[in-house]
Amino acid sequence: MSFTNTSTMFKKALKGKYAIGAFNIDDLNGLRAVIKGLNNKQSPGIIAITSGSLNFIGIDYIEEVKSIIEKESLVPIALHLDHGKSVELCKQCVDLGFTSVMIDASSHDFEENIRQTKEVVEYAHKHNVTVEGELGAIAGIEDDVNVEDKYGQFTHPDQAVEFVEKTNIDSLAIAIGTAHGAYKFKEGQKPQLRFDILDEITSLLPDFPIVLHGASSVPKDSVDLLNQYGGNMKAAQGIPEEMLRLATTKGVAKINIASDLRIAFTAALRKSLHDEPAVFDYKIHIGKATEAITAAVEREIEQVLGSKDRALDFKN
Ligand code: 13P
Repeated sequence: MSFTNTSTMFKKALKGKYAIGAFNIDDLNGLRAVIKGLNNKQSPGIIAITSGSLNFIGIDYIEEVKSIIEKESLVPIALHLDHGKSVELCKQCVDLGFTSVMIDASSHDFEENIRQTKEVVEYAHKHNVTVEGELGAIAGIEDDVNVEDKYGQFTHPDQAVEFVEKTNIDSLAIAIGTAHGAYKFKEGQKPQLRFDILDEITSLLPDFPIVLHGASSVPKDSVDLLNQYGGNMKAAQGIPEEMLRLATTKGVAKINIASDLRIAFTAALRKSLHDEPAVFDYKIHIGKATEAITAAVEREIEQVLGSKDRALDFKN
């Protein structure tokens, strides 16, 4: 079992009231660590790569990424372009063998967002590749995604319907108060998501896969470990796990997680460097840090996504 696009995954997730995790990777160690976590929990999943991470890995090495997924995954996995900022990049990733792409034209006006998204859908569907679009602005900073807070705007339910109908996308990323990065709420601010907007959208678009970006929970124990070993992420705050779990029962079929994996990796790396100051064989340190990514993936599956053992559904 390995490569698939997202359509069957999302259908099963919506029916079973759980979500598929889209785990961002930055290199091949991260990739293998995520696959291991998915295998260990028998969970379907999505490997998400931003253009920044694609450049870091090297676009010429995407064949290695695909080959690792094919060789090592025991569960259904989609290879997804995260925040594709241009039609050209999305088409290029379809040609490279991604099974899912996101066209993020949300910074353009509504009509231009529709135009670009539709063009990607028409191309991708010919190649059996599924497409995610975005409507509304998700605040925060991640790689080359930078949306100023003041432009942060929630997704309008009526526009969501029109957008889905006119573009023929397979899933829609909405803005209901999540934010990219590890500082999602100001210090002292109570975490809040606009579940009323989510409910309105899903009542107008029943059984349509909704996506939450910026959905790391930024676990306190992980941040504390990082801070204990010389880090400085004092004001980090994520989306509480129980809010995310609730969202998975309300039509959210995909949850994007990047920061939690990066925090877990960095905390474990700092600890390893501290605990074994004489060790300069970096595979020891990197090995421990990537093990922490696997543990973080397993935790998301158990605590947030509810996708444990759901790979078994694909065998029927
Ligand atoms: P986090 O920064 O909350 O992990 O969000 C990741 C994301 O949405 C990637 O597209």
